[in-house]
Amino acid sequence: MINPVPTLSPAAERAVVSVCNSYHNKPDTLLEILHDVQEQLGHVPEQSLPLIAAALNLSRAEVYGVVTFYHDFHLNPKGQHVIKICRAEACQSAGGFAVIAALENTLQIKLGETTADGKITLEAVYCLGLCPMGPAALIDGKPKAAIKPDNVIALVKELA
Ligand code: FES
Repeated sequence: MINPVPTLSPAAERAVVSVCNSYHNKPDTLLEILHDVQEQLGHVPEQSLPLIAAALNLSRAEVYGVVTFYHDFHLNPKGQHVIKICRAEACQSAGGFAVIAALENTLQIKLGETTADGKITLEAVYCLGLCPMGPAALIDGKPKAAIKPDNVIALVKELA
């Protein structure tokens, strides 16, 4: 059975329309609008994209393309905790792939996803300036260096 796509709450719909209006529905303010919608709703709900597209006289595909192009925009709510693991070259050559695999196995999610209980979101970032100490991550905004696959379970337990 196909799950129906949830609709926006009336309050969320009003917030999206209000944000668009605050930028006079100008298409060249799409990025500002997306940032404001995300700030107000915690993410940019997929159901808000047709509203934004209509207000700015853009296609849904154009709005969707922008939201999915920039890593800072989220179509789904983030977890209580966010692990941003570095996927850039220096960290990968220091064993980053194994750390990512261990995180995905432990959390039972892939990069870009949130655990079913809404507790932890796992995201990729590309260089945190900690290259000599990789593999590196940001955990709830705090840098963590020299992560080993064996440390991953303890690291996740600390968050839970
Ligand atoms: S490559 Fe990972 S912190 Fe720079």
